Amino acid sequence: MARQAHIIVLGNEKGGSGKSTTAVHIAVALLHAGLTVGAIDLDGRQRSLGRYLENRAAYVRRHGLALLEPETVTIDDRTPEEDEARLAAQLEAWRTTKDAIVIDCPGRDSVLSRAAHAQADTLITPLNDSFIDFDLLGTIDPDSHKVQRPSFYSELVWQCRKQRMKRDGGSIDWVVLRTRLSHLEARNMRRVGSALDELAKRIGFRVVPGLSERVIFRELFPKGLTLLDLRQAAAAEGGLTLSQVAARQEVRDLVAGLKLPMLDERRAPAADVPSAAVA
Ligand SMILES: Nc1ncnc2c1ncn2[C@@H]1O[C@H](COP(=O)(O)OP(=O)(O)OP(=O)(O)O)[C@@H](O)[C@H]1O
Ligand SMILES: [Mg+2]
Repeated sequence: MARQAHIIVLGNEKGGSGKSTTAVHIAVALLHAGLTVGAIDLDGRQRSLGRYLENRAAYVRRHGLALLEPETVTIDDRTPEEDEARLAAQLEAWRTTKDAIVIDCPGRDSVLSRAAHAQADTLITPLNDSFIDFDLLGTIDPDSHKVQRPSFYSELVWQCRKQRMKRDGGSIDWVVLRTRLSHLEARNMRRVGSALDELAKRIGFRVVPGLSERVIFRELFPKGLTLLDLRQAAAAEGGLTLSQVAARQEVRDLVAGLKLPMLDERRAPAADVPSAAVA
């Protein structure tokens, strides 16, 4: 049977929540699992995902390392109609040649972003632990912190789910990733957590732990590296620190939490021993 690429879309309308960083880590994790991966950047202005992967290609050339690289395209520089047609054509081209397609959306609403959302098999919404970020999913009562109603981004996903169902009878597995968690803010974390759990039941998403707030995630971008490459890049970067080993485990847990069907079909990558677990 023809291969049917699994489409993973990273989206929310909140800037800086970690979509591009998470997208690159997921793409590389899937490559490490032996899958073929295409990556699409739908933010032609920032091009964070595209630039991240260009930095990666440059690092590979500089250090002569065979790091795994996804095939990457950026689509967002023509008219909305042209861009939408290019997105459809790219998905069609990769549908039978890739196992997974990772699409990074801009942190704002756009025709292109909606078109991508409506194609998702898995939609990942990274969300910082703050009620400002929560507000795009639902409004809450200021005193009781009880959810009052879903808000605009949840409405958008609802519309996309209906479109998807009408088009091919498929469904979108919506996963909200709690990212950039700071364990110092236990009370806020609990409150956002229980509001999310309540909303998850009402509007149908799953909540999965994402990445903690760590400086390493900001430092990796110029080199185009992910935490999953640091062992391979040890000669240039030095041994893995204990904190990096913990962060890498978070990436693996995140990917496992997505419950991607094509990973279930393969053996999960073996967790490697933190042999160089010293700075
Ligand atoms: N877990 C993390 N810990 C620390 N810094 C992070 C983490 N995740 C992302 N960052 C940093 O936060 C900033 C925003 O991240 P990123 O670009 O991935 O977000 P985004 O949601 O794609 O933003 P935009 O909506 O603007 O596209 C970057 O400087 C990135 O390095
Ligand atoms: Mg981004």
